[in-house]
Formats: sequence, structure tokens, C-alpha cells
Amino acid sequence: MAGTGVWAVRSLTVAKPPVEEAMVAPEERLMQWLRDAHAMEEQAERMLSGTAQRLRAWPEIRLRLVKHLEETRRQSIAIQGCIERRGGRVSIVKDLFARTTGLAQALSAHLVGDEVVKGLLAVYTFEQMEIASYTILRVAAERVGDSETMAVCDSIIAEERAMAAWAQEQLEPTTRQYLSQAPSWAA
Ligand SMILES: [Fe+2]
Repeated sequence: MAGTGVWAVRSLTVAKPPVEEAMVAPEERLMQWLRDAHAMEEQAERMLSGTAQRLRAWPEIRLRLVKHLEETRRQSIAIQGCIERRGGRVSIVKDLFARTTGLAQALSAHLVGDEVVKGLLAVYTFEQMEIASYTILRVAAERVGDSETMAVCDSIIAEERAMAAWAQEQLEPTTRQYLSQAPSWAA
């Protein structure tokens, strides 16, 4: 089945999309991508809360994760608002969870021992996917003249970029700190 990776590869490599996909109206495509974004935020919420719980020994990192967790919940509500304003419902996103579940699970599967390093890796990677997703979503909203959804995307992209930049800044110092500590500090 099509997961996030397959979807991405197909988007990049197929010059001539299947007829049934090419025929999807821009409004319908926007709704699909809004639902994908909502599912992605639900998954981000799970990943962030799970990672934050495991990083008790790293209070400053944990604090930033919790802050972004709150942002993520607001983002999810904002996207839900876009879906409902356009006449859709979030209750039917259930089957779309699979598109992001695989990545999030893969990213958090190795949080053992070196969990702070792998946690930052997961957060940074997920944020980049979110930035790309909302950049795409914004173009779809622009295509149909949905300025409210465009504004929501702008706001979310700013938060995701800030979170990605923070995670990137943490990578080197945190990895050095992790490597300098005795293995017994693990949460
Ligand atoms: Fe995020």
C-alpha cells in the first residue's frame, strides 16, 4: 500500500500520472492533503509526547518538546477547522493514518539508551516533512483561492521551521554531551 515514502517517490519520478489521479479536482486534492496534514499532526502529537516522556534526564530538551506538543495540538485544531470550513469531516481520516504512522514508528523505534540523540533525529526529520507538507498544501490552497487555509499554512510553517532550527542547533552539543556521559544516566 502507498505509504509516505511511496507517495513521495511516485510524485517525484512519474512524469505522467495515472489518469484517475490527474482527473482529481483541485478542491478534492486540497481536501485530501488537509486530511493527510491532520493525520500527520495526530502522529506528531504521539511522537512528541512519547519522546518527551522518555527524556526525563534532559529537562531543557523535554521542555521544548512539550512546548511544540502544545503548538502541534493547536495546529491540528486549525487544520480541522480548514477541513470543516470546506465541508469535510475529520472522522474519515482514520484510514489515512497509515501514511504517516510508518515513518513515526520507524523514527521512534530506536529510542533505547541513546534516546536523546535519536529523539532529536526523529524530531528534526519529522519537522522537515511537516515543512514540506505545508508548503505543498499552501500551493493547493492558493490554487483554489482559499486564503484562510494559506494563512493557516503560513502560521504552521513558521512554527515548524522554528522547531526544526531548534532541533538542528541541539544536534551537535547534545550528541557531545551524550557521548561524554556515563551510560547510567539514561532515563
Ligand atoms: Fe511540528
